[in-house]
Amino acid sequence: MSQQNADALDVERIRGEFPILEREFEGQRLVYLDNAATTQTPEVVVEAMSDYYRETNANVHRGIHQLSQEASICYEEAHDRVAEFVGASGGREELIFTKNTTESENLLAYAWGLRELGPGDEVVLTEMEHHASLVTWQQIAERTGATCRYIRITDDGRLDEEHARECITDETAIVSVVHVSNTLGTVNPVADLAALAHDHDALIFVDGAQAVPNRPVDVEAIDADFYAFSGHKMAGPTGIGCLYGKKHLLEDLDPFLYGGGMIRKVTFEESTWGDLPWKFEPGTPPIAEAVGLHAAVDYLEGIGMDRIREHEESLAAYAYERLDAEGDVDLYGPEPGPDRSGLVGFNLESVHAHDLASIMNDHAVAIRAGDHCTQPLHDRLGVAASARASFYIYNTREEVDALVEAIDSARQLFA
Ligand code: ALA
Repeated sequence: MSQQNADALDVERIRGEFPILEREFEGQRLVYLDNAATTQTPEVVVEAMSDYYRETNANVHRGIHQLSQEASICYEEAHDRVAEFVGASGGREELIFTKNTTESENLLAYAWGLRELGPGDEVVLTEMEHHASLVTWQQIAERTGATCRYIRITDDGRLDEEHARECITDETAIVSVVHVSNTLGTVNPVADLAALAHDHDALIFVDGAQAVPNRPVDVEAIDADFYAFSGHKMAGPTGIGCLYGKKHLLEDLDPFLYGGGMIRKVTFEESTWGDLPWKFEPGTPPIAEAVGLHAAVDYLEGIGMDRIREHEESLAAYAYERLDAEGDVDLYGPEPGPDRSGLVGFNLESVHAHDLASIMNDHAVAIRAGDHCTQPLHDRLGVAASARASFYIYNTREEVDALVEAIDSARQLFA
């Protein structure tokens, strides 16, 4: 995509909606390239949450009074809006609010996995899974006697589709796959994997933490049984995540957490559960965060998810090309194209990723360095750590240039 088309996003206007981007460190303007960890928050989201606290704050589903009723409506409508955003036609009944993607994964693994898995059952993951799913399924497998299998990646960072067909068999109980890798940027063929899983009467869970923020996602087109994502990676607040599930599957599940707000009837002997999605949302939920996420979804849709994807792909392609031209930068993941998202993982041959991130910081360039919660993937890549630049709607080519200049400084410092 050309820079002219990327500019169609009106990046300058968008930047003006994120006051944090004005920050300077020792006279240098912040270059924020750590969006896969968390994105920045536009004024409209901050305002929506402030307004909520100023005008509507009350607990939900507990009060007869006016404020509680208003807060409950805000909270319920946020479920419907976010469900609509990801193509869940069942609305709120198919969209559970959690704390984050990790909690969504744990909810499913505990509620479904502990009950359904046993010796002989297989959970099929991929070598590029985030610890959020990898560690969680490992633990549930250990408790139930099930086995975890991992679909290999190819040397260019894609899923080995032939190996996927070998791994997903009649023994498979569930496939758990990341939609977009937070380390490689690979966009996985989740609809194909869903079809493969269903051919074997298995379920599929998709970790969409790095997908929902930057591309149109339709859980029904994918035919995902369960799909998780986080608010804070999509211009929304921290403290709220989502678990989509097909209604009939969620109806069949027992709760994962227990307490107030999720029950129908409680006696000293036993309890029964409330309706979807409330039976999975005990205690006081993230109400202001739901209001913020609702505003974030409106904001992103106002920009257009296709345009967001194009902008990110354009920046990632530019960063990939510039870094590749350096000659001493190892790049991870597929070459730019439709199966690569808006992040670039790399290592400068002569400098450890942590040192590189630290020097970047001296230049006010914020990137992430480390194992990115994918240690087994780094073992597979043969490195202990990597650096990662990840882009969002407000990033520019000039910021990619600043990244490359900071890398040049690091190289000189360590020469
Ligand atoms: N999972 C987030 C990341 O990749 C935190 O940075």
